[in-house]
This record gives sequence, structure tokens and C-alpha cells, in this order.
Amino acid sequence: MKYTTVISKDLASIITDYLILPMYEKDDQSMIISLDKALGGQINSLNKQGDFTGKHNSVLPLLNLNGVKAARILLVGLGAKKEFNHTKYKAAIATAMKAISQENIKQISFFAPECADTTISFSSLINSSIEMIGHAVYRFTEFKSTKPKPNSITEISFLVHKDTHAEALIAVKQGAALTLGMNLTKDLGNCAPNIMNPENLAKAAEILAKDHPKIKCEILDRGQMKKLGMGSLLAVAQGSEQKPKLIVLEFMNGKSKDKPIVLVGKGVTFDSGGISLKPGEGMDEMKYDMCGAASVLGVFKAIATMDLKANVVAIIPAVENMPSGSAARPGDIVTSMSGQTIEILNTDAEGRLILCDALTYAEKYSPKAVVDIATLTGAIIVALGNTCSGLFSNDQSLADILISCGQKTDDKVWQLPIFDDYQPLLDSNFADMANIGGRAGGSITAACFLSRFAKKYPWAHLDIAGTAWKSGKEKGATARPVSLLVEFITRYA
Ligand code: BES
Ligand code: MN
Ligand code: ZN
Repeated sequence: MKYTTVISKDLASIITDYLILPMYEKDDQSMIISLDKALGGQINSLNKQGDFTGKHNSVLPLLNLNGVKAARILLVGLGAKKEFNHTKYKAAIATAMKAISQENIKQISFFAPECADTTISFSSLINSSIEMIGHAVYRFTEFKSTKPKPNSITEISFLVHKDTHAEALIAVKQGAALTLGMNLTKDLGNCAPNIMNPENLAKAAEILAKDHPKIKCEILDRGQMKKLGMGSLLAVAQGSEQKPKLIVLEFMNGKSKDKPIVLVGKGVTFDSGGISLKPGEGMDEMKYDMCGAASVLGVFKAIATMDLKANVVAIIPAVENMPSGSAARPGDIVTSMSGQTIEILNTDAEGRLILCDALTYAEKYSPKAVVDIATLTGAIIVALGNTCSGLFSNDQSLADILISCGQKTDDKVWQLPIFDDYQPLLDSNFADMANIGGRAGGSITAACFLSRFAKKYPWAHLDIAGTAWKSGKEKGATARPVSLLVEFITRYA
């Protein structure tokens, strides 16, 4: 996909296959008014007749045009200016892309509207436009023997005012890089679990490092992890025929004295539950249990493409959770790298068992902050649905930045508490702690478990079980929270 920016004063003179025109209710943007003049007042009369009033998420194609150079125009409703927000903007762009998806359009021109919400920057509107276009044209066809036709759109031009052109140029570049990262995240997440096993996830990381020489990649195998004392991580892997890997990426592109941000991504390439086997229905979706890892790799793809001046480390514990004669049993006690012992009461609470050793491993970088990203609990879906990722942190200023980055990118997070009151729920009669805390507050006790391994640095945990993929007819990885994390690194590093 090619993205360009075009300085335009006069929409009527734009030569394009399709002019996409996001409009508010009672829109008074001067460029739209003069375009309508060229159209002989068509938009105004459609408005009066009630055919297109700018109502949010409404679209109307205008074909067979006279007086303008565009072959087609799509009117897209943004709703009332007063009620405008980022979520609405993104939804409107998604609707617009759906409306033109059946047509054989090669090039589209996007009018970048004045932003009616002062809390959203113009560049984040451009960014979001590119993101939504990216979602609309994305296809995962790797395993289709006859490949469906790819989306016909190959070029997108953003029409901007000369005052905002410089800003738009940067935003377009960033948006394109972000899309590359998000596409990688989706591809990895959507891949079948017999292919996307720990070994191939590690290979994907190595390919990423090869494509971007500033990324260094190191893969630790079972023997090396054993030497480090990662007894908790290895216990999860021991039931599977697939060898565990610890993937470590370093992107040290900032000042050499700056401590790195460490991203830890849960990489369970398939979560059967182990001996605490999950019910069969929908179990295929547990291939997505490596979406934390996939999002970290997507972030690296994006920031390396942007050549972002930041120091960032990725630590990805990659394992498969399977039941077998060699699998960990409920009741097993393991020793983590931190020295703390854990009684495994449920082998399906495996995410925290691999993350805890990765969190301890992160100490060696004396990080500025550690953020782990994990499809950790079904309970977070009960709490927050599919709209926000769950946020937990031992450092409120870190949490606040993540919340604000989530608002800016519309990749929203919602904070939940990790009060000490919850910690006794993890008490074990036989070890330092149990790996589950009972049904009540399941996401919180999972986070409390992790917090015991994250005492040496500012730490935040994102539970993305509800946001990383969609179920149902549109089943697929969403690439959340890649945009949130890229924004976070841009701001925090
Ligand atoms: N990978 C799952 C969490 C999950 C469940 C993500 C459903 C998306 C949809 C995790 O490993 C898990 O199984 N968690 C258990 C924890 C329980 C055993 C304490 C859960 O949420 O049921
Ligand atoms: Mn599980
Ligand atoms: Zn899991």
C-alpha cells in the first residue's frame, strides 16, 4: 500500500477513483462548502431531503458526477460536532471502508476533516485513518489453497491543508509503520497452532531481526533456561512435544545511558489447559494465547520501521501447554527463577507461571519500566468485555501514562486494583504461593501473583484476553494493543 499526502485547497479539482468525505452534521468546513458549489449544491439538497445528514456511521455514495474531477464521492457521517470523539471517528472510517470494499477501486483520496474534539490531535486522526484502512484491507490467506483476490486498493492519498501538511506527512509515515507492525501481529496470531509453535515463533523473531539490523535477537533453549532456574516456565512446557524458547530482542536505538523499557509478552502457542483440560468448545481459539508475544513483535516491527529513538527490550516466554504423561500435575510444586516456590493448583493458570520467570529475567536490564502483555484470564472478559484491556500496576505514574496513551490511540485500557488485601487469596499450605486465587477477582489475583515477581522496577500488566482477538464470524487477531504500546514507547522513552 502506498500512502501519500496532497496539499489541497480545492476538492473539486482532485483527480481520484474515490473521494472519501467524512462530514459532520451541519458541516460548515469551507472546503466542503466550495466542493458542494462545484457539485451544484447536491450535498446540500441531499441534506435537506434527509438522504444524508451527516448522522454518525451513515454513508452515501455519489456517482456519475458533474463539475468535479473525482470519479466517485463517498459521504461519510461523523455525527454532531459536539458529540465527536475518537471512537466515533474510527467507527465511521471502518464503515466507509466497508462501503467501498466490493468495488474494484485502486486509488482513494481521503479528506482529512477538521477535528471537532480538541483533545484529539490532527495527526492521531490521520494515524487512526490508516489503522482502520489497514484493518479493512487485511486478509489472512496463508492456508487457503485458492487465494481470494486481495483488496484492490493500492494507493491512498490524504488531502490536507498546507498548514497541517508537515504534521500529516509524519503521521502518514508513522501510520504506515504501525500498520506493518499490526499486520505482523495479526499474521502471527491467526496462524494455525501446529505451525505457530514456540520454535516458529522464535524463527519469526529472528526474521524480524534480520530485516531490521538494529534489532538483536537471542533465543534461549530449555538447557539455558534450566541453568537460569526457570523451573516455573519449564513446568508449563514439560507436557508438550514442542521445545520451549525464551525469545529476547534488544532494540537499543536511544541514548546509551537510558535504561530500557522491557516488554514481556505471553507466548503460549496453544493453551489446552494441560491436565486441567479446558472444555472442547471454542478451544481452537487458544491458538491466540500467544497474542501478547505477537503484539510485542508487532511493536518491534513498528518502532524499527519508524527508527524510533528508544531503548526497548522484548522478553517472550514461548511454550505450548499440553496434557501428557510428562505434563505438570495439579499439586506439583516448582521453584521459580526468583527462588519463590509455587504450588500449581491448576495447570490452566499457566500464563502467570511463564511470565513470572520472564519478569525475573527482566531484572538484568535494570529497566526503566516493565510492561507485560498477556491473554491472561477469562475473568477480564467478564469484567471489561471486549472494549478495554485490563491494566494493573505497582506505579501510578506509569499506569497514568498508559491510560492516556490508550485514550490517544483509542486502544483503551481500564485500571483495576492490586490491593494487598487480595494477596492472601494466593496462600498455599505447602509452597510460598498457589498459582490460583479462586473464582472471585480472577484477573486481580492473577495480577497479584505477577506483582510478586515485579518488585524491583515500575511494572504494569495488560490483560488482553478480551481485546486481542475477535470471536464469531469475524474471528481473527485484532493487533491490540500494538498502537497503545507504540504510543507509550514514543512518549515514555
Ligand atoms: N489463556 C487463558 C485465558 C483466556 C481464557 C483467554 C479465555 C481468553 C479466553 C489462561 O491461560 C487461562 O486459562 N486462565 C484461566 C485461569 C484460571 C484457571 C484461574 C481462566 O481464565 O479460566
Ligand atoms: Mn490457561
Ligand atoms: Zn493461557
